[in-house]
Amino acid sequence: MKYSFSDRVQNLKPSAIREIFKYSANPEYIALSAGNPAPDAFPVEAIAEISQKLLIESPISVLQYGTTEGYLPLRNFLISYLGERLLYKQKDSLLITSGAQQAMDLLTKSVLNKNDVVLCEAPSFIGSLNSFRSFQANLVGVEVESDGVNIDKLEAALQTHKNIKYFYTIPNFQNPSGVTMSLAKRKKVYELCRQYGVLILEDNPYGDLRFAGEEVPAIKTFDEDGIVVYVGSFSKVIAPGIRVGYVAAPEELVSKMVVCKQGEDVHTNMWGQIVCHEFMTKYDFSAHIKNLQQIYRRKAQILTDAMEKYLRPKQIKWNAIEGGLFAWCTLPEQIDMYEYIQKALAEKVCVVPGTAFLTDENQPCSSFRINFSTPTDEQLLLGIERLGSLL
Ligand SMILES: Cc1ncc(COP(=O)(O)O)c(C=O)c1O
Repeated sequence: MKYSFSDRVQNLKPSAIREIFKYSANPEYIALSAGNPAPDAFPVEAIAEISQKLLIESPISVLQYGTTEGYLPLRNFLISYLGERLLYKQKDSLLITSGAQQAMDLLTKSVLNKNDVVLCEAPSFIGSLNSFRSFQANLVGVEVESDGVNIDKLEAALQTHKNIKYFYTIPNFQNPSGVTMSLAKRKKVYELCRQYGVLILEDNPYGDLRFAGEEVPAIKTFDEDGIVVYVGSFSKVIAPGIRVGYVAAPEELVSKMVVCKQGEDVHTNMWGQIVCHEFMTKYDFSAHIKNLQQIYRRKAQILTDAMEKYLRPKQIKWNAIEGGLFAWCTLPEQIDMYEYIQKALAEKVCVVPGTAFLTDENQPCSSFRINFSTPTDEQLLLGIERLGSLL
């Protein structure tokens, strides 16, 4: 049978990362291409303990349907947790989602019409870009610099484009560039978006994974005008497989997202939500975060030392790594990035081409992304040594 697909999705392609996964699943390859938490970052024993207790003592709470808005104790806990950090405002409401990814999807479904504009950082997280694309958004990329989005270009984009629905930003340890937006830029972004009547979608899955430098307040903390949709996730601080994220946003927006979620998955899985709640309230969550920071600090140091030794002499540059899971490397101008990445694959090293993260993959780009959380120390060293030897 010849299948025909909807206008919404017929031009969607599998992401370049998925394609690279075909190689990286092969144990002969050194996969610096993943985006997963480190294998030793999972609180396995606590999750097993909580799950066993739940299934023995209150199985129906885990196995029964739940409400779309989310497991009430977790919602209430998050409202006060975020409230203390000024990430939850008086007119906000909170929805638990199936990962942060679903929050992106639900906001887009709620506010975007075909060809409406979404302003995105360039580069940006491919999962979100593909979600926006599936709603036929017109994606407009705005360059990211070492301290966050280029403000002049953001302002120019706000002036130029009609029907902009929101500006999508990952202000902490951005995926893929690893960049953190400065406080001054966050304030400016807020002011500009307020002035132009554009929402801000602030996606913050990596904020807790800071292992160097000073924490910068979220854009949501300035939100007195109800324009910031703040998205958080347990994927990088507990486990991505449990698929629990959340969104704090003005009540009117969240109500619409709740209706949209009902048509997608009714509610986020109960086991995952209860595990998150129990883990945050009955275990030492802040000690767990400190442990994660230590794990990633150590990994990032190994990577940085290797890059200094093998990549710096070859004029490959990278942004300083203060948190998150990624390093963003830029090749010298005369080197063709695709050719370089093909050569790396021939040497059995997988990295992700920077173009995969652009709103338009045909734009020039001489950068690639490295993940340092999943490879072993030996793989990191060997992988970077091979990347250096290619030039
Ligand atoms: C910037 C960013 N946002 C959202 C997500 C999706 O997170 P979740 O697993 O909570 O859906 C990721 C996952 O890697 C990400 O890097």
